[in-house]
Amino acid sequence: MLADTVSVRPLSPTCGLEVEGLDLRQIGESEMTWLRSAVADNGVVAVRGQDLSPEQHIAFARQWGEIDYNRFFPINELYPEIALVQKEENQKVNIGGGWHTDHSYDVEPAMGSILLARELPPSGGDTLFASMYAAYDSLSDGLKATLETMRAVHTADHIYGHDGAYAKTDIASIFRGHDEHTLAVHPVIITHPTSGRKALYVNPSFTTRFDGWTREESLPLLQYLYAQAIAQDNVCTLQWKPGSIAIWDNRASWHFAKNDYHGHRRVMHRITIAGCALS
Ligand code: OGA
Ligand code: MN
Repeated sequence: MLADTVSVRPLSPTCGLEVEGLDLRQIGESEMTWLRSAVADNGVVAVRGQDLSPEQHIAFARQWGEIDYNRFFPINELYPEIALVQKEENQKVNIGGGWHTDHSYDVEPAMGSILLARELPPSGGDTLFASMYAAYDSLSDGLKATLETMRAVHTADHIYGHDGAYAKTDIASIFRGHDEHTLAVHPVIITHPTSGRKALYVNPSFTTRFDGWTREESLPLLQYLYAQAIAQDNVCTLQWKPGSIAIWDNRASWHFAKNDYHGHRRVMHRITIAGCALS
């Protein structure tokens, strides 16, 4: 239940809500209950106008579950719970600049993340989100039935490893964990652990192939699914403002950090919430 002073607006027909008038520093149990299902149902909820210290950000995150410490991103030295998603004036490559869902390379992938805008470029730097419920719903009954029987392989080795995608870029030095190896096999279609809805659970960044298929065999079907997933009316744009916070569910959505603000700094603080094995 929400007070009359709280306003809620959809960001797109299938994905995302924007909320104004909530104070996450002192959120009540009934508001948390509303927020938990709003995030699971809509993939992402943006709450505007928050003024949270790092301690308050951490305290809010703990209300969602255990914190999942990211092994690859730079961390805030004072607050190891907080990963730094940041780009400097002189850097060209950003973190998260391709469609993905966080930590799908883990056997128990993170439930979601709570991203807080600390420093924004004068314009640009939006984050796009896409609903994986809508992606599933858009498929034919025949393809849904086939995908229900399939699993897919996820890893981050080709992203964060010594020869990975970031190794060749101007932000190579910010990452940690080059020796970590990740490998997980998840169903291609999952039943969301709390909403009970079916969702597509493959993504262009971390899914390498279908289990039992070669990569060459997998790519055409994966690419078909990816194109469906980001069909135009299935994507919403979150335009950040100072004090905006986004809470997203990695099982219900993908996201993409736009990299259109070269020459400006952007600093986001991310806390990731632990999840569970998916089925
Ligand atoms: C992330 C991420 C998006 C952004 O923090 O996981 O992908 O817009 N960030 O910074
Ligand atoms: Mn991400």
